Amino acid sequence: MSGEPTDAPRRRGRFITLEGGEGAGKSTQAARIVAALKGLGIPAIATREPGGTAKAEELRAALLAGIVAPLGPAAEALAFSAARVDHLDRKIKPALEEGVWVVCDRFADSTRAYQGALGHLAPQLIRAMENVVVGADRPDLTLMIDLDPEKGLARAAARRGDNSVDRFEGQSTAFHRALRAAFVKIAADEPQRCALIDGARSENDVAAEIWHEIENRLDPREWRRPL
Ligand code: TMP
Repeated sequence: MSGEPTDAPRRRGRFITLEGGEGAGKSTQAARIVAALKGLGIPAIATREPGGTAKAEELRAALLAGIVAPLGPAAEALAFSAARVDHLDRKIKPALEEGVWVVCDRFADSTRAYQGALGHLAPQLIRAMENVVVGADRPDLTLMIDLDPEKGLARAAARRGDNSVDRFEGQSTAFHRALRAAFVKIAADEPQRCALIDGARSENDVAAEIWHEIENRLDPREWRRPL
């Protein structure tokens, strides 16, 4: 060991995902997490799915325009997974390897909930796809932001400022209620990885609970200490 800083072992970054229904406040909270991490001197980036890379953003536009929908939920799950492969290979994995924390607005649990649970796909199919696409790169922490879908959809509409809806926002209230239940079930089934966050409170209160979970589960102050 030369003792030069460039030879210092680099600690892998942490991978945090935010999940939940429409208008739950995920992107706002992702930006706040990144700001809080940077405040501790931890390098961090916010990204999103589908998207995060040029090719994945192209797939996002097609998916949200409903171009893949007529092919059925299995084809949609494959298309979301294709976007995920590019996002993982070109952005998420390189960042984690460089010691950057990655905060991602939606990830594989959205495929489980939207295409798997709501598309009535066999759980084995979703699991197999996830094993191939995500493999060992599962999130260290998933924040499930839980919110009454009527409130969430109203927030999403207010944010857009018009009556347009994308492929999934335009679904029935029953769809969004079932979606909420699917996310809550994922959190209940994997409590080690997932924290269920009450998204009905103020932005500041939600941010405080999220930060409490990050501190308890990932110990960012300890991570910062040199190895
Ligand atoms: P949003 O990120 O603006 O919420 O838009 C993404 C939409 O795509 C949202 O309706 C959820 C949906 N989606 C899936 O159906 N499957 C997936 O795997 C992902 C990542 C998103």
